[in-house]
Amino acid sequence: MSLLDAAKDVRERAYAPYSNFKVGAAIRAASGAVYAGCNVENVAYPEGTCAEAGAIAAMVAAGETEITEALVIADSPLPVSPCGGCRQKLAEFSKGSVPVTMTTLSGATKVMTMAELLPGAFAQAHMEIG
Ligand code: THU
Repeated sequence: MSLLDAAKDVRERAYAPYSNFKVGAAIRAASGAVYAGCNVENVAYPEGTCAEAGAIAAMVAAGETEITEALVIADSPLPVSPCGGCRQKLAEFSKGSVPVTMTTLSGATKVMTMAELLPGAFAQAHMEIG
């Protein structure tokens, strides 16, 4: 299945009664398998989770830890941009060269690499004691 089809499909099941902004995310892992997730909001607003987090959780639950490409979709005027927290979550499992496609239901699309989305990402190397 393509990332676009997977993200569009899962987006329809997003639980977003508070923002009414449904998001779908799909990631391809090293095996070639596609994992999808949608945003899941909560009446205690900060407890809601983003679509990207759901897709990453599905990938890790399936035993994979390397993202080779990612796509995020929403019904928005501009290609939906992963939030700062999701950029860090994606970076945990992605090389800087991994392409992230941001798109809309009407087809407005922008592609950026992980390194472009999160320059200077906090990484393991920052924790090494010199
Ligand atoms: N949201 C995502 O799921 N992913 C993004 O990349 C941007 C924002 C969700 C969080 C919240 O449920 C809704 O969109 C509005 O912020």
